[in-house]
Amino acid sequence: MTSSPLDEEIDRRVVPALKTHRMVLGEDGENLFAAGVADMDFAVAPVVQEALEKRLAHPLFGYEALPDSLLPALGRWQNERHGWQVRVETILRAPNVLNALAMAMNLFSAPGDGIIVQPPVFFDFFDVIRENGRTLRTNPLRLEKGRYQMDFDHLEKLAAEPRTRMLLLCNPHNPVGRVWQQEELVRLGDICARHDVLVISDEIHGDITFPGHDFTPFASLGPHYADNAIVCLSPAKSFNIAACCSAFTLVANQQRRERFQAENSRLTVNKNNAFANAAMLAAYERGGPWLDQVLAYLWQNVELVRRAMASMPGVELIEPEGTFLLWLDFRALNLSAAELTAFLRQRARWAVARGEAFGPEGQGFARLNIACPRSRLRKALDRLHVALKEQQGTTGK
Ligand SMILES: Cc1ncc(COP(=O)(O)O)c(C=O)c1O
Repeated sequence: MTSSPLDEEIDRRVVPALKTHRMVLGEDGENLFAAGVADMDFAVAPVVQEALEKRLAHPLFGYEALPDSLLPALGRWQNERHGWQVRVETILRAPNVLNALAMAMNLFSAPGDGIIVQPPVFFDFFDVIRENGRTLRTNPLRLEKGRYQMDFDHLEKLAAEPRTRMLLLCNPHNPVGRVWQQEELVRLGDICARHDVLVISDEIHGDITFPGHDFTPFASLGPHYADNAIVCLSPAKSFNIAACCSAFTLVANQQRRERFQAENSRLTVNKNNAFANAAMLAAYERGGPWLDQVLAYLWQNVELVRRAMASMPGVELIEPEGTFLLWLDFRALNLSAAELTAFLRQRARWAVARGEAFGPEGQGFARLNIACPRSRLRKALDRLHVALKEQQGTTGK
């Protein structure tokens, strides 16, 4: 196989990258396969790097406005990649997606109100709900024949409860890798609209889908759906620029948008980061071919994992439809959550996200980030294979 620029090993310990930081790996985690944090180990697109260097070469970093071309570039990106005609005048800037979620929660629900999530789901959703004094309402996804599905009957019951105000949708879904289909989103949107539950659609993983699966932006379902939604968009995952800290909130409903704008002003969440703007503009205007290369590489990494796991005892790959996060089912090992973590860490030398961090439904699972050079992934898989065989030998399973 010909080599790819994405094969390059880059030492992330040179900067305080979270993925390789002792905060995440622990004090004795130096030699672990660092695959827990959801970013990529690939160098950014050359067009993004060049745009940042160009911006840096202009030696003035005083206050800046949003580049005139940024929102139109975001609009074109959504249209060309996902067939979504975005009304760019409905987009507000946000410092990051989680901030947008927290602000939406504070503006459009009250302390104690119920917020629905569908676990296993991105763990920070739980924190945002708890730290803002809202009540978690869970509609667990159902694993049916190896594929996660939404439980619409239970969703309807939760949505009908008088204090339920909001649903956090992970579209596509971290960690189970579902790229929700149009019919599923319509059903969810109809239930929420019927019960006056506002949909907050987190679409940060929207650009990362695999062959045969097309991302459906929630607001593209139609004006009625867009009106009952707040959509969080960000190039952070697609272009590996999470530390540039920048995102967008699309608020189609005018009254809500005005309230959001007023809150941004009250909290002065309205400053522009010159580097984020340069990076995002280059990414949306010229980063498409690089992202396509990344998607093809990720898909080959999925194939590598699939092939390797087919011959491993005790682990099943939940077939991903999108995101660079794979959901691995280790339940056949019959280990407690603590034992599974210890097994992965000490025997396979893997530092991955613990399944139960995504809700109790995640117990017995782990989330693996495959956005890394293939040679590293291959070595990690070899170590897992050996560890699983040893485990099988020990337990006789
Ligand atoms: C679904 C989801 N939303 C939000 C975030 C974080 O976004 P941000 O860094 O813009 O707050 C992540 C990061 O892993 C994520 O997976």
